[in-house]
Amino acid sequence: MFPIAPLNSINKISLLQYRNYSSAGYSFPASVTCITGPNGSGKTNLLDAVYYLCYTKSYFSAYQQNSVQNGFDGFRVTGIFNRSGNEEIISCKWKAGKKEIFKNEVEYEKITDHIGVYSAVMIAPDDTELINGGSELRRKWVDGILSQVDKTYLEKLMHYQRVLLQRNAWLKMQAYNPATNNTELEYYNAELAEDAAYIFEQRTTFLHHFLPLLNNFYHLLSEGMEAIQVTYTSDLLQKPLLDWLEQNLQHDLRYQRTLRGIHKDDWDFRLNDMQLKQFGSQGQKKSFLFALKLAQYAYLSKSQGHLPILLLDDIFEKLDQKRMEALLRIIRGEGFGQVILTDTHPERIKQAFEGGAEVGFIHL
Ligand SMILES: Nc1ncnc2c1ncn2[C@@H]1O[C@H](COP(=O)(O)OP(=O)(O)OP(=O)(O)O)[C@@H](O)[C@H]1O
Ligand SMILES: [Mg+2]
Repeated sequence: MFPIAPLNSINKISLLQYRNYSSAGYSFPASVTCITGPNGSGKTNLLDAVYYLCYTKSYFSAYQQNSVQNGFDGFRVTGIFNRSGNEEIISCKWKAGKKEIFKNEVEYEKITDHIGVYSAVMIAPDDTELINGGSELRRKWVDGILSQVDKTYLEKLMHYQRVLLQRNAWLKMQAYNPATNNTELEYYNAELAEDAAYIFEQRTTFLHHFLPLLNNFYHLLSEGMEAIQVTYTSDLLQKPLLDWLEQNLQHDLRYQRTLRGIHKDDWDFRLNDMQLKQFGSQGQKKSFLFALKLAQYAYLSKSQGHLPILLLDDIFEKLDQKRMEALLRIIRGEGFGQVILTDTHPERIKQAFEGGAEVGFIHL
């Protein structure tokens, strides 16, 4: 189904003052590594450190300071990676609010240059929020995927967000210090409209490529025959953003913020035309979520030409036998590369991987 993509993998990691790790090092000798240990021993933190090396941020926490070991003011995480057969050392240093990323000991000029070099897909227990939570989570998720495969998307998105803040500040100011002309507003409108047109187009194309992948994984994972629908909703489906901004100015002034735009976009997940969030069963949601993540994996590997690292946090806790077997068949098959997972029960993993010959263990 997929072209054979080169494997990008992590061979070793070392952590300094990262979460519960004062100073530690581990290696990932096999294509599947299972991190085991009791609750609170640092399994999730170690998995998150691998994610951090790929994206220079934690999967679980938006606040960098949370990743620093209590009582310290910085951390360092270093990984020895294999990129299409070449060894590369990636190091992330965070100290007193400043982040530095190094590749083979040379610092990146722009941290965003590292995004997309290594990729990882995490599946974690709280991820059902992607289905049950608000639209912001889904936008972040789609943006995360598209930003890795398209630098222009990332740049335009960051620019849009910056100009949106400026426009909102301008709207607020009109209440007590109205502008004498519209020059500033017209500038903001034009900039936003241009970025939004590109982002809208990319989000539309993304869904077109993503849906068949999602469909495939959902039906591999679940016994269900439900038809999957994902609808992309956006103000820009009706008219270009410039029209919205110009025609909606009175509303925006009243609410003192920009009410229309791609910052309101959402994706509606449905099974047999019923909204998953409202009517889906736990099992359907679980299968859907895993399918979303596996489709993300497949989409990234196709667009980037290499296989991301799959990070599975505690998922065997939550899966029934049938789904677990289906998932294992998928992730051990063609089109998947390195897998790192966590579990409190090493026996369960040994069993699941039939003797565990190809599984390496890190016991915490
Ligand atoms: N910034 C920090 N500084 C020091 N310790 C931290 C920090 N953040 C988290 N911890 C500690 O790390 C431990 C949790 O680690 P982690 O979540 O990785 O455990 P786990 O092995 O995944 O547990 P579980 O099996 O319950 O999921 C806790 O003991 C917590 O107190
Ligand atoms: Mg954990």
